[in-house]
Amino acid sequence: MSRVLSGIQPSGDLHLGNYLGAIRNWAADQDIHDAFYCIVDLHALTLDIDPAELRSRTFETALDLLAAGLDPQRCTLFVQSHVTEHVQLSWLLECTATMGELSRMTQFKDKSAGKDSVRVGLFTYPVLQCADILLYDAERVPVGDDQRQHVELAREVAIRFNYRFGDTLVVPEASIPKVGARVMDLQHPERKMSKSISSPLGTLLMLEEPEEIVRKVKKAVTDTDGEVRYDPEAKPGVSNLLELLAVATGGTPDQVAGSYERYGDLKSATADALVEMLRPIRERRDVLAADPGAVFRLLALGAAKARETASATYGRAAEAIGLLTPE
Ligand code: TYM
Repeated sequence: MSRVLSGIQPSGDLHLGNYLGAIRNWAADQDIHDAFYCIVDLHALTLDIDPAELRSRTFETALDLLAAGLDPQRCTLFVQSHVTEHVQLSWLLECTATMGELSRMTQFKDKSAGKDSVRVGLFTYPVLQCADILLYDAERVPVGDDQRQHVELAREVAIRFNYRFGDTLVVPEASIPKVGARVMDLQHPERKMSKSISSPLGTLLMLEEPEEIVRKVKKAVTDTDGEVRYDPEAKPGVSNLLELLAVATGGTPDQVAGSYERYGDLKSATADALVEMLRPIRERRDVLAADPGAVFRLLALGAAKARETASATYGRAAEAIGLLTPE
């Protein structure tokens, strides 16, 4: 079985972009791959976040992922800071990546734009992400489209490390879904749905109440030409709805477009399909939340399992780069 790894920030309520771009595919991958999934709390430190809130969000994210179908019997689910090798390997990789490479990261440019003071961690964040991936010898990294550039960096860094120090790190590849890789904001369909941009009406949460799903989808921005057709360039709003309906029902956006003539009908069908898709997640979430101790135990087991692989890879990399092995 090939190895996959992916990660998610504990930065609040997960939205439909997170679910369709990533988590849903993680759940599907756990039966066919040796899968590692990581809640990247160290990455969250690059933004302003209250310590108590970070702790609770990390735990809540674990609950959300379990509710969304990750099963610790079939995958390794853990919290990044519980495995210290992430930071250790990250330093070796900081000494491998270049300033030029990190300066080109579009997420860094977006998040630092217009700020007087930018934390070093925000700049080096993609290297920590390289460490997350490379520590687990991951061949595939299932992510949404916005993470493509970061995974490409992990490839480059692994290739360079291997070139300088001999074959040590597995060179990974991004795995991006055909539909759902870029879920757009319902109110501003020209930009992606995002936790950091506040657009409550444009963002559908994974645990959204059914009535809210219906309300937000009904209010989704479309266009004035009235034709139900999949054309993301010319018709971003309608195309976004078609993509959502397609992933929720298992078709392609072009196929589902053929079944509707009016925007109102498309919206009703999309809302109903999303309510049904998300219902079991909300129900499971309630059950899991009743036993927090069980979640802590699962995370401890996950970290122990992750550490086995991470420490072996870190040991290999430390030796290859010339660090003296302790007795
Ligand atoms: P994060 O926490 O922003 O997002 C988690 C996952 O959700 C996907 N995603 C989307 N997919 C489709 N449409 C959207 N609108 C949308 N918004 C978010 C993201 O592509 C991602 O797959 N740096 C990463 C976390 C990370 C990571 C890793 C990922 C840290 N280490 C190692 C993979 C491997 C991030 O901030 O994702």
